[in-house]
Amino acid sequence: MNPRRATAWAPVNIALVKHWGTARNDPALPARSSLSLALEHGATTTVELVAGAEDSLVVGGRSIGPGDGEKAAAAYGLLARVREAAGLGDFGAQATSESDVPLGGGMASSAAGGAAATLAALAAAGLLERTTEDELLALCASTGSLSALRSLRGGIVRLDPEGGRLALSSLGSPLDLTVLSCLVETRPKIVSSSAGHARARTSPFFPAFEAAAEERLAAVGEALLRGDLRALAELVEAEALAMHAVMLTSRPSIVYATDATWSVFRLVAAIRAEGIEACCTLDAGPNPHVLCATSQADEVARHLAAAPEVLRVMRSRLERRGAHVVS
Ligand code: PMV
Repeated sequence: MNPRRATAWAPVNIALVKHWGTARNDPALPARSSLSLALEHGATTTVELVAGAEDSLVVGGRSIGPGDGEKAAAAYGLLARVREAAGLGDFGAQATSESDVPLGGGMASSAAGGAAATLAALAAAGLLERTTEDELLALCASTGSLSALRSLRGGIVRLDPEGGRLALSSLGSPLDLTVLSCLVETRPKIVSSSAGHARARTSPFFPAFEAAAEERLAAVGEALLRGDLRALAELVEAEALAMHAVMLTSRPSIVYATDATWSVFRLVAAIRAEGIEACCTLDAGPNPHVLCATSQADEVARHLAAAPEVLRVMRSRLERRGAHVVS
């Protein structure tokens, strides 16, 4: 036995400008740039390389095999790639991951898990110090979740496909934002985001969604920089609904939202009508995230907690730390 072990943590991130669909000429690249906020919830992943052992993956106490879906296969692929790169072919990689947020509900558990697994695997193999940024991004992308790349950084993060390669950059804002993530459905989604990305171009609305990205990124970036929460809220909600319009009109269609999801959207519209700046955003799942100023978060949280559809509210401010090795 010669165990080499590392544990890494990464934040979940919620997209204000969404990555949905892949580039026309390269399915490994996103169709458009995206921008997200890192949250305080995250995933903690430990990778241990053990001589003579088999590869294994346990997520939230559940053993996952390489045949359990595309993301599982990608996670085993990541472990194998890192093991081989370190010349540890006769070692087995044993990975365990715990998430603060429910899995498979559009709460970015796979983004946080993918970023934490990438760092933990590299650190366990002794490769982290000599891994370049480009190599780190490529390896993290191989987990099957491009949104995982944004979890490598804290704060407000932009992901761009630049001339065939992926690049991260950071943005600033004077806003003190809180995100109230509302659990309205505990069952995992039926259509994976990987399957959804592959279907995005079948929607007649996809060309407009793809073409709007640059303008939306510029407007969201400016609203953040100016600290204009009213403008930001309007843009963020419009962006989420535009992505869901693409999902709903893909063939076959994808309906991630439930009645409870739309109830939260309507509740937030009513809160806005009372003069509180807030908006909803929604990723590939039924659980909405409500964005508001931290100074008004208690009041917004009270409204959300009183709604019968909302099973739990997870509250977070902006997380400044990106993925990092904890031991
Ligand atoms: O890269 P994936 O498969 O995790 O895609 C996630 C895409 C959305 O969460 C729906 C939007 C986004 O930009 O995070």
